Amino acid sequence: MLLRIAVQAKGRLFEETMTMLAESSIKIEQTKRTLLVPAKNFPVEILYLRDDDIPQAVASGIADVGIVGENEFEERQEDAEIVKRLDFSKCRLSLAIPNAQMPEYEKAGLSWFNGKKIATSYPGILKRFLQKNNINADIHVITGSVEIAPGIGLADCIFDIVSSGSTLVSNNLKEVEVVMNSEAVLIGNKNINAEKKEILNELLFRFDSYKNAEGKKYIVLNIPNNKISEAKKLLPGMKAPTVTALETEGWASMASVLEEKHFWEIIGKLKQLGAEGILVMPIEKMIL
Ligand code: PRP
Ligand code: ZN
Repeated sequence: MLLRIAVQAKGRLFEETMTMLAESSIKIEQTKRTLLVPAKNFPVEILYLRDDDIPQAVASGIADVGIVGENEFEERQEDAEIVKRLDFSKCRLSLAIPNAQMPEYEKAGLSWFNGKKIATSYPGILKRFLQKNNINADIHVITGSVEIAPGIGLADCIFDIVSSGSTLVSNNLKEVEVVMNSEAVLIGNKNINAEKKEILNELLFRFDSYKNAEGKKYIVLNIPNNKISEAKKLLPGMKAPTVTALETEGWASMASVLEEKHFWEIIGKLKQLGAEGILVMPIEKMIL
């Protein structure tokens, strides 16, 4: 039995989804990309779809699980569940207006949108937001290049995905309201059988091991015995650092896990303590 995973055939989630599968040691033939591809060494098959179709494919059982943007899942309101938030492809869905309208907006606030024409590919989410805030606006659905709509007179403003914000800047638009934050999520059919659930659990375990290792380094160093306790405070490790006595009198070897973002700061402090022979190595997987 194979667990069928629907993934985006192209677009914003594609690369990172494929990396996550590869880093989880799931081998998928990537050259001849047909619609349905079984993995070589793990009981899953990949179904490549348009992101818009993934929620329904999972809800209906055409796929058992799917990896999709939370925004897309929220938009479709399909009967499936979020099994895991995947912590990549983060973006937000925001309302943005032409820069020139900012003085007006600063006076009116959200009510500026009353009577305006808003271009979007997410009419469902937008409609619910407008209703909640008692705003009467005209929703104009476009499937791509939403950001150019105000410039060509197709709409007054937009409701779209914002990530770096550079698309807005280059179209003279200003983000004025974040309606939802989004990231890649793994969604699941509500009725998958026990055998498939077991495959899914193994898959989630592998995803976790990969995610846990991300941004972490393994560090080994030599430290004078009388500095061990101070060094321990800098290197809490997963539980506690490993300390081993060295042949050289008065010295120990210490090993631990380090967050990459604190890397230089901690290395500096360790050197001040007299640490020597510091080795820093990448961590491929981390099982907690
Ligand atoms: C989204 C959105 C913007 C862009 C925003 O498009 O429609 O065009 O990303 O990203 P930025 O804030 O980093 O500039 P996406 O790449 O998802 O493709 P799409 O236009 O086909 O939806
Ligand atoms: Zn789409």
